[in-house]
Amino acid sequence: MNVTWPVVLADGDVVLRPIKMRDQRNWREVNRRNRDWLRPWEATIPPPAPGGPATQRPTFRQMVRHLRSEANAGRILPFVIEYRGRLVGQLTVAGITWGSMCSGHVGYWVDRDVAGRGVMPTAVALAVDHCFRTVGLHRMEVCIRPENVPSRRVVEKLGFREEGLRPRYLHIDGAWRDHLVFALTVEEVPEGLLTRWHQARPGSAPGTPGTASGTAQEIK
Ligand SMILES: CC(C)(COP(=O)(O)OP(=O)(O)OC[C@H]1O[C@@H](n2cnc3c(N)ncnc32)[C@H](O)[C@@H]1OP(=O)(O)O)[C@@H](O)C(=O)NCCC(=O)NCCS
Repeated sequence: MNVTWPVVLADGDVVLRPIKMRDQRNWREVNRRNRDWLRPWEATIPPPAPGGPATQRPTFRQMVRHLRSEANAGRILPFVIEYRGRLVGQLTVAGITWGSMCSGHVGYWVDRDVAGRGVMPTAVALAVDHCFRTVGLHRMEVCIRPENVPSRRVVEKLGFREEGLRPRYLHIDGAWRDHLVFALTVEEVPEGLLTRWHQARPGSAPGTPGTASGTAQEIK
């Protein structure tokens, strides 16, 4: 039985579940409303080499097909984030590498309407605990543009370690952008990241009635 994927991870009002084709309408609606909010942080495709084929942004269906085939190959965990039952964002664990490395990196965004409520720290904590405890990865990484203060706060609040700068690391918003690297290895969070987040968060109680804290369900 494969318990690593597909799974649903939940803590209180925040649920991570696999992205589906039928998310198209809600996903596009959230993206349309948040275009300006997301643009400065969104990955873009560099111009093709002279004479090379033109590259276009994938459609939603192409994106989901790609994510699902990568998930089936064990290289990606592509989640959407629900908050109080509504699709509000995306979290993807990508670049999963085994062998001597056993690592992955996390990318994410959330609807501006729910920003500032701790949705993303909860989502990242759920995903990292799943990767460490169930998938069996050893190291998790988040790469963030230095000017992205809200995203840096997410990893700071969770206690990620800052490792340094990767110059011109990713093509974001139309240009090659520097990124700061933040990482954790499993030894650094023996109590689990969600537990750490609940302990650090002022006035926080784990989960809410009716939803167990940090639960994982297998999807048939
Ligand atoms: C970065 C992001 C995922 C944070 O998610 P979140 O669920 O709002 O996270 P938090 O609730 O912990 O808030 C993080 C910080 O955002 C800022 N913030 C709070 N409310 C905000 C609001 N209404 N609007 C904008 N920023 C806000 C604060 O600096 C906060 O830090 P604090 O808790 O120390 O005050 C979200 O801002 C986002 O999706 N931004 C656009 C896409 C993006 O940057 N993706 C990450 C690329 S690396």
